[in-house]
Amino acid sequence: MASTITITQTQPTVTLSAAPSKRMDLDGKPTSFGDFRDDLNRDGFAVIKGAVPQDRAKAYSNKIYSYLEGFGLGYDRYDESTKLKSKLPVINEKGMIMGYGICHEQFVWDIRGEPGVVEAFEKVYDDKDLIVSFDVINTQLANRTDMPENKPWPHQDQDPRKHGFRCLQGLVNLNPSGPNDGGLIVCRGAHVVSEEFHNAMADEPRIPAWTPEWYGFTENGLKWLEERGYKWEKVCAEPGDLIVWDSRTPHYNVPTKTNQDRFAVYTCFMPVQDATQEDLIRKKEAFEKRLGTTHWPNAKHVAGSNVAMRDGKPDPANRDLPLEEPVLSERVYKLTGIPYIKAEA
Ligand SMILES: [Fe+2]
Repeated sequence: MASTITITQTQPTVTLSAAPSKRMDLDGKPTSFGDFRDDLNRDGFAVIKGAVPQDRAKAYSNKIYSYLEGFGLGYDRYDESTKLKSKLPVINEKGMIMGYGICHEQFVWDIRGEPGVVEAFEKVYDDKDLIVSFDVINTQLANRTDMPENKPWPHQDQDPRKHGFRCLQGLVNLNPSGPNDGGLIVCRGAHVVSEEFHNAMADEPRIPAWTPEWYGFTENGLKWLEERGYKWEKVCAEPGDLIVWDSRTPHYNVPTKTNQDRFAVYTCFMPVQDATQEDLIRKKEAFEKRLGTTHWPNAKHVAGSNVAMRDGKPDPANRDLPLEEPVLSERVYKLTGIPYIKAEA
């Protein structure tokens, strides 16, 4: 079982620089960075064009097709009739693959470690000492006929009692994602009114959440945003584009209306200074057991196992370890947070 697996990759402990960083405010006011940060500050989201070079993005996309075929269940990327639950690993209606140790596949780590991806987060936080989430990947195949409906679930990924910019989420888009293709939809600029919104909605019944770091918008909440002129917008992106958004920006994903499959890998970073030593130790255990986390890079929640459930039973295709175990460069290994664990901790 996963609990018996321990795989370590050792490197010297890293000491943080004493210089304070000045992370972005994401307060909606005009800024003059001259790059994606101006969009991000104003709109609560931004697209970083070509964060991953197109040829590598295409290779990652092919890797995901090969990964899906590699389960040997009968899925063939060139045969539409094989887009069936029985011929694919377990994928939920929102496109997420959460089991099988996928969060630690080499190609997923390669994407997290792409220089253009890491640099974007370094710029926002003004900090190079970052940690990354062990988040899942998204494979929304077009023309699925045997999936439950992917209903809208507009939400924020942040505790409504904790205000201000706390976490920048991201995804690397790997296939074309136009206006009618599957992908991320956001409520432009609404990050700025998050505190006002939650003050106004204090007495509104809440949609149940499995973690305090999630808030679901009710019909009333959506009306509040609409009345103030906030509009929902599908974020369009090309292969290799990185989409980032403030966790306060209302968002969800939409299914494709075209024949275009959607592939995306979630990449969320935060300064290691925002994590406690306990967080980092929990994160280290998750890494060593090849377990996933939510988007929160401080490993607030760690998956209990890599077991995917198929029709209420463990999937016979389950595996504890990734198909291709990750080998990380020194830079990328730092993103696990492990080198920041103090010797006495
Ligand atoms: Fe989310």
